[in-house]
Amino acid sequence: MAGTEPVVVVTGAASGIGAATAALFRQRGWHTAGVDLNASATDLPIVCDVTDAAGMRSAAEQVVAEFGRIDAVVTAAGFYQEGIDVCDITREQWDAMLGVILGGTVNTCAAMLPHLLAADSGSVIAISSELALGGSATDLHYVAAKGAVLGLIKSLAAEYAATGVRLNAVAPGPTDTPLLAPDSLWREPEYLRTLPLGRLVRPDEIAATVYYLATEGSVYCGEVISPNAGAVI
Ligand SMILES: NC(=O)c1ccc[n+]([C@@H]2O[C@H](COP(=O)([O-])OP(=O)(O)OC[C@H]3O[C@@H](n4cnc5c(N)ncnc54)[C@H](O)[C@@H]3O)[C@@H](O)[C@H]2O)c1
Repeated sequence: MAGTEPVVVVTGAASGIGAATAALFRQRGWHTAGVDLNASATDLPIVCDVTDAAGMRSAAEQVVAEFGRIDAVVTAAGFYQEGIDVCDITREQWDAMLGVILGGTVNTCAAMLPHLLAADSGSVIAISSELALGGSATDLHYVAAKGAVLGLIKSLAAEYAATGVRLNAVAPGPTDTPLLAPDSLWREPEYLRTLPLGRLVRPDEIAATVYYLATEGSVYCGEVISPNAGAVI
């Protein structure tokens, strides 16, 4: 099925922000490949854990075998644990969080980037979090992992800028996806009233930011754009 249409790989494509992102790219005529623990509604759903480095390399090869190229990569696979004080976060919880959020982003970049570099073009957009900019209590392992993703992306952006491959990050504010439990503090009307825009962000609004960075936003390099309803100004 190799052709002229651009190709995007989205991790975490089975739900929430990743699903909305894959849907938008598809609507704009891109071929979409989704990597997730679950099957995604993409042109090429690949079931793989982003912590599996060899699995991610194989996923990249599947995408290139199917579509002949990779033009954009979006790293949205992730999970969240809310309401744990730092002293109560276990070693296992730290390792699991860092493993998926930071390690998964590293594995995705390591597997996909060679295909972008071979073409001297393309774009990687990592999904971080507004909490990495503003800090947050009782979910420190998540925030630390999301902050590490920013360091990773800025460094890779500097390393590869001259090649024509751009790397940037999107740091969403609280977004209405299954990641936020029904009783999440971020859904509380009391919290939402503190936001200048007074509401949760929608996944399609994050997708639009990602799409912009992959297409028209050609001068962005190592940037962090944070659609967050004014949570961090
Ligand atoms: N929803 C929010 O409020 C919010 C805010 C800021 C950042 N984010 C980030 O956005 C990204 C997407 O989150 P979402 O809100 O769409 O959540 P979601 O739960 O709706 O979707 C996350 C997806 O990632 C997949 N996933 C989880 N672990 C994986 C693994 N090890 N390997 C492969 N796939 C895996 C899940 O199966 C799921 O389909 C996450 O990185 C999250 O941290 C979300």
